[in-house]
Amino acid sequence: MLCSDSCWLLHQSMSSLMRSEHRPVTLLLVLLLSWSTNSVSAVGVNWGLASSTPLPPSKVVNGLLLSNGVTRVKLPDADPSVLESLSGSGIGVIVGIRNEMLRYLSQSKKAAASWVHDNVTRYFSDNRAGGGVQIEYIAVGDEPFLLSYGQQYQPYVIGAATNIHTALKAAKLSDRIKLIVPCSSDVYQTNSSLPSKAHFRPDLNKTMVDLLSFLSNHSSLFVLDMNPFSSFQQNKNLSLDFHLFQLTSRPLTDGHSKYDNYFDLSIDSVVSSLSKVGFGDMDIMVGSVGWPTDGASNATSANAQLFMQGLIDHLKAKTGSPLRPKRPPPETYLFTLLDENQLNITTGNYERHYGIFTFDGQAKYNVDLGQGSRPLKNVHEVDYLNQKWCVVNNNKDLYNITASVVQACSNADCSSLSSGGSCGGIGWPGNVSYAFNSYFQANGQSQESCDFNGLGLITTVDPSVGECRFVIGLHTSGSNKVRSLMADMPKKVFYSFFQSLVVLQQVVSVFIFASFFV
Ligand SMILES: *[C@@H]1O[C@H](CO)[C@@H](O)[C@H](O)[C@H]1NC(C)=O
Ligand SMILES: *[C@@H]1O[C@H](CO)[C@@H](O)[C@H](O)[C@H]1NC(C)=O
Ligand SMILES: *[C@@H]1O[C@H](CO)[C@@H](O)[C@H](O)[C@H]1NC(C)=O
Ligand SMILES: *[C@@H]1O[C@H](CO)[C@@H](O)[C@H](O)[C@H]1NC(C)=O
Ligand SMILES: *[C@@H]1O[C@H](CO)[C@@H](O)[C@H](O)[C@H]1NC(C)=O
Ligand SMILES: *[C@@H]1O[C@H](CO)[C@@H](O)[C@H](O)[C@H]1NC(C)=O
Ligand SMILES: *[C@@H]1O[C@H](CO)[C@@H](O)[C@H](O)[C@H]1NC(C)=O
Ligand SMILES: *[C@@H]1O[C@H](CO)[C@@H](O)[C@H](O)[C@H]1NC(C)=O
Ligand SMILES: *[C@@H]1O[C@H](CO)[C@@H](O)[C@H](O)[C@H]1NC(C)=O
Repeated sequence: MLCSDSCWLLHQSMSSLMRSEHRPVTLLLVLLLSWSTNSVSAVGVNWGLASSTPLPPSKVVNGLLLSNGVTRVKLPDADPSVLESLSGSGIGVIVGIRNEMLRYLSQSKKAAASWVHDNVTRYFSDNRAGGGVQIEYIAVGDEPFLLSYGQQYQPYVIGAATNIHTALKAAKLSDRIKLIVPCSSDVYQTNSSLPSKAHFRPDLNKTMVDLLSFLSNHSSLFVLDMNPFSSFQQNKNLSLDFHLFQLTSRPLTDGHSKYDNYFDLSIDSVVSSLSKVGFGDMDIMVGSVGWPTDGASNATSANAQLFMQGLIDHLKAKTGSPLRPKRPPPETYLFTLLDENQLNITTGNYERHYGIFTFDGQAKYNVDLGQGSRPLKNVHEVDYLNQKWCVVNNNKDLYNITASVVQACSNADCSSLSSGGSCGGIGWPGNVSYAFNSYFQANGQSQESCDFNGLGLITTVDPSVGECRFVIGLHTSGSNKVRSLMADMPKKVFYSFFQSLVVLQQVVSVFIFASFFV
């Protein structure tokens, strides 16, 4: 067996440990080395809070991320409660900057400096054993080049990135934290789905060349956000099997390359686009990729499980893609951890149903997030509101009910009612009840939120029918948040202690193993 650099270092440190006068320091060094060689994983998850009743962040960190072996997360912004809950967890973090801030950050170095101070420096740590948040990347914008945004954000991306970089440099963090810009898959265009024909969108060509030059100057990488589900819906030529890693025959042929899945096709389309502007060797990270489970036909848990398992197996096999053999993306972030019922549904009702877990932290299907062959662990002791639902009162005259439904659905979430969705078949007035209940739960089950001009009725009988689940919301009040944070504290301390024990045990085994070579 060959000893890698870090293994050799580990051996050296172990030898010196036996002689050292400074054992605690050396032990710490060894612990760190061992930790980093054992926990490297190329898969992370996106985690957002766009939910009417989000789970408390500390519950997510302890009950979902750590308990399922998740080692990296990508955040849409820099929410203080999320960053605080990640402190000391050892989880690698991508902090996001929302598109709305790009213009301001590009116009003011001072604004960029305070963004870095408030949202990075305050939390930062690159020490897995200590406290602090292990911030590894800052995502400048969230798909700012999306075709439907037009020129709204495009002119400000590089300016914002440049100012943030300057601020990081002043904070002595520029060699620890890299800047990335997540790009939607419509940044490139192609003909007949062929990767070799792909090129960056003409309106974006110049900006893209500047961005790539910036990324290359700072040893960063290209970040692609994939959207296999919308590709499946739009691309009649590519089958469901092709998108779900299930294609066994008739691959798509492009010159000498053969493609049997959408993932490789997308990666190689970017490789080809990068080559055409002189950056053909740049690494490609996948910033988000997933499959929804509701809100449209073929958006089901069964399909999502096929997709996720196919993806994880493909990444583990490290085969890479035809244009990048044996060179899979260094990191891939699954979309997404939890359902978020406040996400924008302009592109489709399925957008709110990408969670591997439901909004209340229960796994919809199984996939290896880092927990190995064990089933996923759910969040326990979820702080639900009461066992109460709001339904339509069938004894009333319902002639004027449409206005109430519109009001409920525009504020709450009716995306499961769409055709092909889990509640798409419940009919009228069941779907009115669904809308009323959604609004009622999003408003903390307040009496007024089930009024609807006297047409609403509060019930303690679960109105769920078949697949169509009438949810109960979660407590999210400030006082509740504080209480649950306190409750989770001892568990977290215990967890860190337990992690140290595991690491110690690994070090001892490596040492015993290494002594055979002395
Ligand atoms: C820090 O990030 C938060 C959330 O993304 C944002 O609201 C806030 O304005 C940022 N702070 C500064 C100083 O820009
Ligand atoms: C796409 O490819 C076909 C055949 O290879 C070609 O005839 C056509 O002109 C191409 N279209 C574009 C927009 O490049
Ligand atoms: C779809 O496939 C047909 C036949 O294989 C091909 O002629 C056509 O160009 C393809 N269209 C797209 C949009 O890929
Ligand atoms: C990258 O570095 C080169 C050489 O130092 C420089 O000319 C170029 O302007 C830089 N690009 C960006 C976008 O900062
Ligand atoms: C895009 O930029 C590259 C590099 O500057 C250039 O070679 C290419 O012609 C440009 N393509 C278009 C469509 O403008
Ligand atoms: C998608 O779902 C619809 C409705 O269930 C079904 O008719 C169709 O065959 C599915 N599409 C594919 C490609 O399986
Ligand atoms: C949703 O996205 C669309 C298109 O990007 C945008 O026009 C609209 O304002 C967004 N809606 C909300 C509520 O943010
Ligand atoms: C119908 O509902 C709307 C909105 O709730 C309300 O403003 C209006 O007065 C109602 N019309 C009648 C005739 O009850
Ligand atoms: C409820 O179902 C009726 C009948 O199928 C349909 O006309 C109506 O649009 C549905 N409403 C919603 C909000 O889905």
